[in-house]
Amino acid sequence: MAQPMTVDEFNEYDSYTVQDWEKMWNDGQLGSMTSKFHPMMVKFHEMIIQSDRHNRVFVPLCGNSLDLLWLARKGCSVVGSECVAFACQNFFTENQIPYEIRALDGIDGNVYCSKDEKLDIRIFQCDHYQLSPRIVGYPLDSVWDRGAFNSVPMKRRAEYVQHMSTLLTSSATVLVAVSEYEIVSEGDANHDIPTAEEGIYIAFKPLASVELIERSITERHEFENQVMEVGEILFKVKFN
Ligand SMILES: C[S@@+](CC[C@H](N)C(=O)[O-])C[C@H]1O[C@@H](n2cnc3c(N)ncnc32)[C@H](O)[C@@H]1O
Repeated sequence: MAQPMTVDEFNEYDSYTVQDWEKMWNDGQLGSMTSKFHPMMVKFHEMIIQSDRHNRVFVPLCGNSLDLLWLARKGCSVVGSECVAFACQNFFTENQIPYEIRALDGIDGNVYCSKDEKLDIRIFQCDHYQLSPRIVGYPLDSVWDRGAFNSVPMKRRAEYVQHMSTLLTSSATVLVAVSEYEIVSEGDANHDIPTAEEGIYIAFKPLASVELIERSITERHEFENQVMEVGEILFKVKFN
């Protein structure tokens, strides 16, 4: 049964470094992070893929997400960022997509590029915050952020949002899906962590308009005298 995060667990999760992520990938703790296309992306894809243009979609902190493949099959040019080489390789090998690796110019890292001419997918294996439109080659038209913002430590979220704005066209639409583990009954100090919704508003509101698109509560647990809801919330963001 799912248990609510304690403040201590939240603080530990909130301080993961690139080395921590590397270790988790290499220890096999993250290999099956996503095994299907994300239903909110499929349902609301018209917000990030417009039928009257070619769409260049950014998937930040992508891991080996299958969503990259879904977007590419829709005809998009798909750009991911992911620091761990194993995750990048795993995406291409698991999906049997031939690929090549090229060294990046001016920053540490590589870009993993699909060699399947029907699937335009590139994953930039580098520190996400080092990416720029120069390195990508163009500004991006939209963003599918699932679990990326969620995994950014609180103290880096303003930087994450500001940096994202530098990678996009001025009319770009950003969809952000965040997991929610919320104690909906009267909380206790031991579980008093910021809600996903609060986190989004604090980080994006200074630079963007934010609209809640859908809330899906997938589980509801009652234990001791508390009630916890587990689910995901989808937000649409437009930078000012
Ligand atoms: C929670 S996972 C994201 C999951 C993914 N979006 C999905 O839907 O499956 C966060 C990912 O970000 C990567 N990551 C963390 N910090 C990073 C950084 N500074 N630069 C690039 N990638 C990073 C981790 O290796 C990990 O794969």
